[in-house]
Amino acid sequence: MLAAPETLPGISPGVYSAEDFAAVSAIAHAEAGIVLAEGKAMLVYSRLAPLVRDSGCATFGSYILRIREDAAERNRAIMALTTNHTFFYREAHHFEHFASHVRPGLVDTAARGGKVRLWSAGSSSGEETWSLLMTLLGPDRAAGERIARGDVRLLASDIAAHALRKAEAARYRADEIKAVPEPLPRIWSVPAGDEVEIAPAVRSMARFRTLNLHGPWPMQGKFDVIFCRNVMIYFDNPTKERLVARFAEALVPGGWLYVGHSERVTGPALQMLATAGPTIYRRSDA
Ligand SMILES: C[S@@+](CC[C@H](N)C(=O)[O-])C[C@H]1O[C@@H](n2cnc3c(N)ncnc32)[C@H](O)[C@@H]1O
Repeated sequence: MLAAPETLPGISPGVYSAEDFAAVSAIAHAEAGIVLAEGKAMLVYSRLAPLVRDSGCATFGSYILRIREDAAERNRAIMALTTNHTFFYREAHHFEHFASHVRPGLVDTAARGGKVRLWSAGSSSGEETWSLLMTLLGPDRAAGERIARGDVRLLASDIAAHALRKAEAARYRADEIKAVPEPLPRIWSVPAGDEVEIAPAVRSMARFRTLNLHGPWPMQGKFDVIFCRNVMIYFDNPTKERLVARFAEALVPGGWLYVGHSERVTGPALQMLATAGPTIYRRSDA
């Protein structure tokens, strides 16, 4: 006979158990590569309880049966489990490195009519996307607008559609954008009441796509630059190694990969990527 599921402290018996937490963890891992460590049982409860209620299910157990069957509801549950915390100009040294080592080559390519492709993978609500594009356009409005008219695109992708909607709306509290060094925010954003809106030239370069990094990638072309920061911290080692190997393949020769401050490239990707600075890698067949 099966042991009765262990009830978690503070939760009515039968509503949410340690077994339910284990079942949700297994689903999050299989679907999105996300690892929910043991200490996250109450976080899972608070994130999923509103969805359980809205679905009309009386217990987590019956909601879990529902998400096993219903892909759309499963997707909603995964989105609710993501952590979307981000801010403008996070890990400033990446933007400084990009401005001094990478931008000049990209600006030159764009000026010659070439293609420039960037990817903010796990872009959340857009602060990384806009910080990167403002840095690419640079401190001179006329020169930046010329770059924006070139064949220059940034793909902003995330598994969480609600975060991407905020990214695409491109509106933030005025104090949030202040983390980006002047004159970039002054040139590349427009005041809108208490808020600012990212300027049209910057927005014209961005494309938004809901994408699970753990699944197939429909993009055809390769990228000059990939930012994937503070996303892999939620994944286990085999998932991280598979992902960075796919990033290495998705870069043009000489392309750049930026990862978060507590992340590292390990495994087979190291055959293609050389360290170019702290948490910065370059495809070595440049
Ligand atoms: C903490 S935010 C990082 C945002 C930004 N890159 C930064 O460094 O500030 C992590 C993002 O990764 C996304 N994410 C988590 N697992 C994912 C997956 N399997 N595929 C795509 N995005 C994922 C989450 O939805 C979340 O928006």
